[in-house]
Amino acid sequence: MNPPGLDDLLTCLRFPSVSTDSTRNADVRACAEWLLAKVQGMGLSGALHETPGHPVLVAKNKHVAGRRTVLIYGHYDVQPAEPLNEWKSPAFEPTIRDGRIYCRGATDNKGQLMAHVQGLAETLAKHADLPVNLVLLLEGEEEIGSPNLKPFLEQHRDLLKCDVVAISDTGMVAPGVGTFTYGLRGIACMEAKVHGPAIDLHSGIFGGAIANPVTAVARLTATLHDAEGRVAIEGFYDSVRPIAEWEREAWAALGDGDAEMLELTGSPALFGEPGYTERERRWARPTAEVNGIGGGYQGEGSKTVIGREAFVKLSFRLVPDQNPDNVLKSAEAHLRSHLPKGVRLEIKPGHTGMPYLMDPHSTLGTAAQRALKKVFGDKVALIREGGSIPIVQAFKDVLGVDTLLLGLALPDCQAHAPNENFPIANFEAGVRLNQALLAELA
Ligand code: BES
Ligand code: ZN
Repeated sequence: MNPPGLDDLLTCLRFPSVSTDSTRNADVRACAEWLLAKVQGMGLSGALHETPGHPVLVAKNKHVAGRRTVLIYGHYDVQPAEPLNEWKSPAFEPTIRDGRIYCRGATDNKGQLMAHVQGLAETLAKHADLPVNLVLLLEGEEEIGSPNLKPFLEQHRDLLKCDVVAISDTGMVAPGVGTFTYGLRGIACMEAKVHGPAIDLHSGIFGGAIANPVTAVARLTATLHDAEGRVAIEGFYDSVRPIAEWEREAWAALGDGDAEMLELTGSPALFGEPGYTERERRWARPTAEVNGIGGGYQGEGSKTVIGREAFVKLSFRLVPDQNPDNVLKSAEAHLRSHLPKGVRLEIKPGHTGMPYLMDPHSTLGTAAQRALKKVFGDKVALIREGGSIPIVQAFKDVLGVDTLLLGLALPDCQAHAPNENFPIANFEAGVRLNQALLAELA
């Protein structure tokens, strides 16, 4: 027999709600509609709110004056499932193997969000109410940078008014170890396109006399880092806040992470900014990453051609006190000043999100840690994460509140990758965590 709520999670997972793929728009909406019916059936009242993109779900219990108001946020959109042939079971057919549910979105974020929903459902069924005023906010655009959610917050300050936000969309350091995340990296994306000749050219007839855009993109990309892995953009590290001494100690106390990193990634060696441990590099240092690069012939065999253009897709992970817009500006200046001769550069800025950092020892932070202890036992890991949830700093800026990040994903849950999965045990722990958290916050 499946544990309570698991069948609902499996139903939720069957919607291929890929936010970046416009051919999936109807599936994204259907997922939102299903969620709305689900939470209405539990006794919450709510609605879907239209945006220029995917709908936002807001639902509440009956608010009582004097109670603390908790906003629980989650996202029902998922990343694309490609490459499909690397999945051991179909990407959108949840399949249980060895106690884990395999499906796109299982861990990021439907498993974690449905644990909250199930926690709420059980409390509502038992007590016909919750111990707090609840605002449930579920969006369908997190995986594309939440472009419409910040304006939505600004337009609906009263509807979303709360004392604190809680999110389960981050990781646990190891199975069974309660993990409180008090910081996230921010992000800034851009695409650089290099234009060469007006048309594709025969590389024998023309090669040697004009610049090849693919070569230019490769050279340009190579200027972003020095040989040891530091980002070489002028001023990139200027506003980076140093890691606090207590953080270095707390993270070191988690044990040596190098072996686990090698095992998880299958890389032949670790690599990165000198002077920092692998956790410090991922959680508290900024990066420049190449997410895609292309141009020229990609098919079978060889084709002697000089393509007329080439591109590179970049994202920068940012830490306090870097500003995404400033980073995009200095990155563009860097690329323009390092552009090889004979080509033209076009820059397309992409989505951005601010980094986040809160005091884990605040009143609300300690309440969240008490809830983790109730569910997972006395040892709580205090960490930052390298991933981004772009709306979190906007909760602070627009609604004036901190966010408690209580993640349930394990390091090997394969978020964004083929064979994404979520342990059923983590789902069940998440249900209890929701109940413990609301009790503590009340
Ligand atoms: N759940 C992740 C963020 C995350 C993952 C935080 C692991 C901490 C640890 C979220 O769904 C995500 O993937 N965010 C994107 C945001 C981007 C597309 C704007 C990310 O970090 O790449
Ligand atoms: Zn994600």
